[in-house]
Amino acid sequence: MHNRGSNKISSRIAQIRLVSSHPEVYEPCDDSFALVDALLADRNNLLEHRPTLCMEVGCGSGYVITSLALMLGEEVPGVQYIATDTNPHAVEVTRETLKAHGVHAELINTDIASGLEKRLAGLIDVMVVNPPYVPTPEEEVGREGIASAWAGGENGRRIIDKILPIADKLLSDRGWLYMVTLTTNNPSQICLQMREKGYASRIIVQRSTEEESLHIIKFWRDFGIKPDTKENMTVNKTAPARVLDTLLSQVHWLSLKKSGNSNSS
Ligand SMILES: C[S@@+](CC[C@H](N)C(=O)[O-])C[C@H]1O[C@@H](n2cnc3c(N)ncnc32)[C@H](O)[C@@H]1O
Repeated sequence: MHNRGSNKISSRIAQIRLVSSHPEVYEPCDDSFALVDALLADRNNLLEHRPTLCMEVGCGSGYVITSLALMLGEEVPGVQYIATDTNPHAVEVTRETLKAHGVHAELINTDIASGLEKRLAGLIDVMVVNPPYVPTPEEEVGREGIASAWAGGENGRRIIDKILPIADKLLSDRGWLYMVTLTTNNPSQICLQMREKGYASRIIVQRSTEEESLHIIKFWRDFGIKPDTKENMTVNKTAPARVLDTLLSQVHWLSLKKSGNSNSS
């Protein structure tokens, strides 16, 4: 993991000492750091991508959306940011974190993107999500306060499975989704599910801690994949770069399964 105190990095991402807090709001943790590290690892692509609208679902302390805004800030002017969270305290804490760093986002206290679907359909160029992914009893999902930060129900997939189809509706044709998953969430199955919707995927960061093994996966629309048809595993043969991407991502999965513990970018 990067040294979060180093000047070079902290000038581009949120500084922990400026991140606001509240007892009912999730503090930046290994998963938040891994997501920001994935964005940093992909920063050159993000700068070239020149997104116009970026969104975070489940912003918590605001560490991730603030980091994204700082990362793109100077070099991609005019980007707009939106962040949602079901926890009203998280929305307030994010507001303070953004302000402390001199950046701005529209903040909405809502369930994923409820009430925003029409307005944002097909407009989001970059979506970032560190969802509640911890396997818990179903009845813990959606509880108020800090429990909503991690409670993911069976296999930790309850909220993830709600987010994916919404992300598909909101992402633009060139939209990218960066999502944190845990091994128990069955990330390869998530990738296959997204592939059926026409998305390619790649692991940007894989990190194992004592408690969990995290994958930060990037999804993007691959128009060589035919969504929702029997041939949806067919890749357009006229797009060799896409074929290579797909093969590389498969090789990457296999090598991760074998090695179990590595960092990649
Ligand atoms: C693991 S925390 C991540 C917080 C922050 N993004 C980070 O990486 O540090 C998950 C966040 O998602 C929020 N959340 C949970 N369910 C949600 C939902 N259905 N819609 C929007 N936000 C949700 C929680 O309140 C919490 O702030």
